[in-house]
Amino acid sequence: MQSLLRISKSVMTSSPKCVSPISAAPHVPIPKNGVDYRNKIVLAPMVRSGELPSRLLALHYGADLAWGPETIDKAMIGTTRRVNPRTSCIEWTRLSSNGQKAHERVGLQKESVIYRVDPQREKGKLIYQIGTSDPELAVQAAKLVAGDVSGIDVNAGCPKPFSTSGGMGAALLRTPDKLAGILEALVEQVGKVWEIGISVKIRLLETPEMTEALVRRLCKTGITGLTIHCRTTPMRPRERAVREQLRMIGEVCKEHGVACLMNGDVKDRDQGVALAKEYGVDGGMIATAAEANSSVFRTKAQGGLAPWREVVTEYLNLAMSVENKAGNTKFLLSQLMPSKDPLYQPVQMSKSYQQCCEVLGMSAEMIARAKEVDEILGIDAQGPKQQQQQQSSKKNKNKRALEAGTNAMPNATINNKKQKPQVQPELASRSEFDSLGQLALVV
Ligand SMILES: Cc1cc2nc3c(=O)[nH]c(=O)nc-3n(C[C@H](O)[C@H](O)[C@H](O)COP(=O)(O)O)c2cc1C
Repeated sequence: MQSLLRISKSVMTSSPKCVSPISAAPHVPIPKNGVDYRNKIVLAPMVRSGELPSRLLALHYGADLAWGPETIDKAMIGTTRRVNPRTSCIEWTRLSSNGQKAHERVGLQKESVIYRVDPQREKGKLIYQIGTSDPELAVQAAKLVAGDVSGIDVNAGCPKPFSTSGGMGAALLRTPDKLAGILEALVEQVGKVWEIGISVKIRLLETPEMTEALVRRLCKTGITGLTIHCRTTPMRPRERAVREQLRMIGEVCKEHGVACLMNGDVKDRDQGVALAKEYGVDGGMIATAAEANSSVFRTKAQGGLAPWREVVTEYLNLAMSVENKAGNTKFLLSQLMPSKDPLYQPVQMSKSYQQCCEVLGMSAEMIARAKEVDEILGIDAQGPKQQQQQQSSKKNKNKRALEAGTNAMPNATINNKKQKPQVQPELASRSEFDSLGQLALVV
C-alpha cells in the first residue's frame, strides 16, 4: 500500500499533466519504437520542402517531430536501402533512366535517391508519410522503412487530381472503408511488428456530422495519432483554415485515446500551443510558415524568429552535410530568402554550391566544403550536369512545340504560394527535386 501511494504520488508530482482532464482519458499504448504525438509542435509533410535538410533545420530550431514528404508506395517498392559512407545517412535508391528509351538505357542509368534519413539526428523524431490506395502496397512500402522511422502516416488529404484519380490522398476520405483497411493492415503488419505507431492525416468533410463519423471510424483502426488539416478538400491553401469542427474532432480522438494534431494556418510554436489549449487538441503541425522560416519552432522566450541569413547559413550547412540535391537546395533557398533581397537573384543564378556560398559571403571553410560537395555530386561551375542535359532537352522540346504551334512553353518552375516570378524559370529548375514518388504536389 505504501509503495502504491508512493508511485501515485510521484506520478502526480512528476507530471502535472496526469491530473489534468486530458490525462483522465484513455491513451492508446505508444509502441516501444514509436512516439507520442501529444504536446508536440511538429513539421508538416511537404513534398520538396520536407526533404532531409529541411527536416534537420526544423529539428534544429526545436520542432518536436518532423514528417517526411509524401512518398508514393510504388516509388518505394523496388528501392535498395544503403548507408552513405560519407554522410552516414540511410538512402533508398533506384536506377532511373531519365526518360530514355529502353534501347538507349544500357549503361546510362543513374541512381536516384528516393528517400533519405539521418539515423542520428532524426532518431525518435521522423514520421514517414505514405501515399497509397492499397493495403498490400502500403504494407510492402512501409516495411522497407519501418526499422528506420518512428511512425508511418497515411496521406488522406492531397486534393490534386493525380493523387485522387489514383484513389489516394483526399479520395480516401470518400472511401472510409478502404482508408480504414489500409490503416488496419499497417497497424497489424507493420506497426505491431516494428513496434511503431501508425497515423493518418485527413481534411475536414463538408459537415461536422460527416467528419465525426469518419474520425470515429479511423480512431477504431488502432492508430496512435490523427492530424486534421482544417480545410475541406476543395479549399485552396490561401483560404483561411476553419476551426469550428476542431473541438469536436479533438474530443472524439480523446475518447478513443488517439492523439490529435491540428494543422492549418499555425504560424509558430507559441500560437500552436495556445490554439491546442483553446481547442482541446494535443498539438500543432506547421507547414507553410516553417517552409518560409524554420525558426518558427522557437518560442518567443527562445528568441522567436531568427533572421533569414542565420537560417540560410544553417540550412546550407545541413544541405551540404547530407549531400542534398542542388536543385532542391536552391528551391529551398528561394523559400527562405526574401525575394526583394539583392542577393536573391544571384543565389538563384548560382550554378553550384560553391558559387552559392560565395555569393552569400559564407566563410572560407564553408566554401571549401561546398567545393567538395560539388565534386561528390558531379556539379561543375556550369551547374549540375544532369540539370544542363535536362534543360537542353527541354529547350529542344519547347522549340519543337513552338514549331508545331502548341503552347507548351517550359513551366515557370516555382509554382507555389510564394511564387517569385522574377526568377528566370530555368534558374530555379525543379528537375532535380522532382524525384520519383515525390511528386510536385501542394496539398
Ligand atoms: C510545398 C508543400 C508541400 C506539401 N506536401 C504535402 C505532403 O506531401 N503531404 C501532405 O499530407 N500534405 C502536404 N502539404 C500540405 C501541408 O502538410 C499542410 O497540410 C498545409 O500546407 C496546411 O498547413 P499550413 O496552413 O501550415 O500551410 C504540402 C504543403 C506545401 C505548402
